[in-house]
Amino acid sequence: MTTPRFLVTSALPYANGPLHLGHAAGAYLPADIFCRFERLRGNDVLFICGSDEHGVAILMRARKEGVSPQDIVDRYHERIRSAFERFGMSFDWYGRTSSTIHRETSARFFETLADKGSFVLRSEEQLYDPEAGLFLADRFVVGTCPKCANPNAYGDQCESCGTSLSPSELIDPKSTLTEATPVLEETTHWYLPLGAHQEELAKWIDSRTNWKPTVLGQIKSWMSDGLADRAMTRDLPWGVPVPANVAARAGVDATGKVLYVWFDAPIGYVSATREWAEQRGDPDAWKDWWQNDETRLVHFIGKDNIVFHCLIFPLMLKLHGDFVLPCDVPANEFLNLEGQKLSTSRNWAVWLDEALDAFPADYLRYALCAIMPETKDSDFAWRDFGNRINNELADTLGNLVHRCVTFGVRTFDGVVPELTSPSDVDLEALDLLAHTTRAVAEKIESYKFREALTEAMNLARHGNKYFNDGEPWKTKKSDKERCANTIHVSLQIVASLSVILEPFLPFTCGRLRSMLGIGPLRSAGVPEGIGWNDAARPLLQPGSPITEGEPLVPKIEDAAIEEQLTKLESASRAARSANDPASESLPYAPLAPEITFDDFAKIDLRVGRVIAAEKMKKSKKLLRCDVDLGFETRQILAGVAEHLSPEDLIGKTVLVVANLAPRPMMGTESQGMLLMAEGRRGDLAPTTADQEPGAPVR
Ligand code: 2FM
Ligand code: ZN
Repeated sequence: MTTPRFLVTSALPYANGPLHLGHAAGAYLPADIFCRFERLRGNDVLFICGSDEHGVAILMRARKEGVSPQDIVDRYHERIRSAFERFGMSFDWYGRTSSTIHRETSARFFETLADKGSFVLRSEEQLYDPEAGLFLADRFVVGTCPKCANPNAYGDQCESCGTSLSPSELIDPKSTLTEATPVLEETTHWYLPLGAHQEELAKWIDSRTNWKPTVLGQIKSWMSDGLADRAMTRDLPWGVPVPANVAARAGVDATGKVLYVWFDAPIGYVSATREWAEQRGDPDAWKDWWQNDETRLVHFIGKDNIVFHCLIFPLMLKLHGDFVLPCDVPANEFLNLEGQKLSTSRNWAVWLDEALDAFPADYLRYALCAIMPETKDSDFAWRDFGNRINNELADTLGNLVHRCVTFGVRTFDGVVPELTSPSDVDLEALDLLAHTTRAVAEKIESYKFREALTEAMNLARHGNKYFNDGEPWKTKKSDKERCANTIHVSLQIVASLSVILEPFLPFTCGRLRSMLGIGPLRSAGVPEGIGWNDAARPLLQPGSPITEGEPLVPKIEDAAIEEQLTKLESASRAARSANDPASESLPYAPLAPEITFDDFAKIDLRVGRVIAAEKMKKSKKLLRCDVDLGFETRQILAGVAEHLSPEDLIGKTVLVVANLAPRPMMGTESQGMLLMAEGRRGDLAPTTADQEPGAPVR
């Protein structure tokens, strides 16, 4: 049997902004886990990615900043590339679509399709911004989505309902460059006739029975609407130029015409593979991957990219004829942040590189894998992150490693003790190695990364239980042989974990293996290294040395988590003001009529700690809070639910009007009032005091 060959791609990120945690959890971390796992199994893997450096979003950003598009992509390509490296992405090649090889590869691909008559040339009137002197493709135009009425749909896609659009379908279109209402001008473009190939695509999709139901569901809904032909060229000053010979043969003036970004970007996977091949001194090596029926091409993407990877790119590949088609496209859903949609424009995002400045890559990898949006959207919350690392990763894996390595070093002279006459319990624990290795493999093969991680961590949980039940701190004195067996088996569990968890936590596992003297792992360059199946059996020889290292999983302090929350709030507040040019001119609330000191002294203000908060059923506005005033706990109903979530208040020491007469509300009673500061845009922030509950405020 030939060794399976996996050509794995992660969506090329647009080089017009940094990566956020949603990107990481969607198209990158799962792909990296998959590739690291397949390499450990001894399969051939080529993992390809790169920056997507064309398209309207980049041009728009360049215009906004008054710099060239090349400046933008140079800046973000480097920022993205280095964030990936720090995150532990094990790409074999990370390219960029402004490279010469990419321009050539995509131009030749276009030429081949044109020569084969695969395109339809069409002249028609399109939206044109007379003020900017540009045709309004894709994101240069916004308007109302004809399908879901979202007023901010783009000219290529509505991000609210996912429908792919063309600019002329938008209701009330507006130029995003000048806000001008566009006029119609005639232009000519090359269209991919998706409609004419619908039947053939449907047949191919029907054969993909093992694809994720969420992916198949989205494709089928597209199909049932009928596939519209899509222009593969644009009138834009940035992109891969339409090849002059193709234009000349068609009798079209190619001036100012470029390939559509979604035509050239997926070809970026091919051109990056060509760059990888060139750099190894074997320029034709890319063909062994792209033009080889044995290759299993797997695209990892987010759900907004499904149509391009499951219909448009496969059709391009089919029409070209020389390439393999994707074998699977395990698209993920979206990651939300603290209960809200991630948004770059609202700065409601955690940037991957900044998160890596604050926490080890493996903490982020662990937490993101545990909540990966595999079958539905999921939520990242900083406090959950802290709890997950401290209560799961540190308390389970970190603790087990610490306990058995310390024991080995201190009680057994720094070597792995012998296993002598093992009990059934010892043998059962060792059986878990094979069981876990198999179970995790099955889950990763079916792209169930969350369950795979749970299976792996279950081995660590069992390890802790086995260690506790063995009570080596007692048997060390009463029955040294039993003690040695407990430590031997615990160390074997930890050793297997250093391989099984490698795809998820490569940095931690590397350190763990060096404590245990295990290595190196199998890779393309080290085929004889330790592989996946080796983790199914005891890896450590009795007598081999082990060393205590730095703590494997140091706990996260609460303050580090609170810092992230404060940072997120203030960045998003700043973005709200910047996005709202009118906010500068908003009026301040007028001053209330003057009062005397005696009037003020009537109000008893106290510090109170919010110990619980929840949304009131059947009320959009009210949060029900339990507030500790030191001497008693009050129930206070605060009309802030449209601005603040319960998590924004829980744990805060806030200012409370403590002598306000109780008021009946929604069938219960509010026993005081929380003070809030209201911004000019009506946004609310709790007023806080660093003082003990019950303290009077004077
Ligand atoms: O959605 C995006 O971020 C695109 N830049 C993904 C491109 S994937 C591939 F086709 F290049
Ligand atoms: Zn829509």
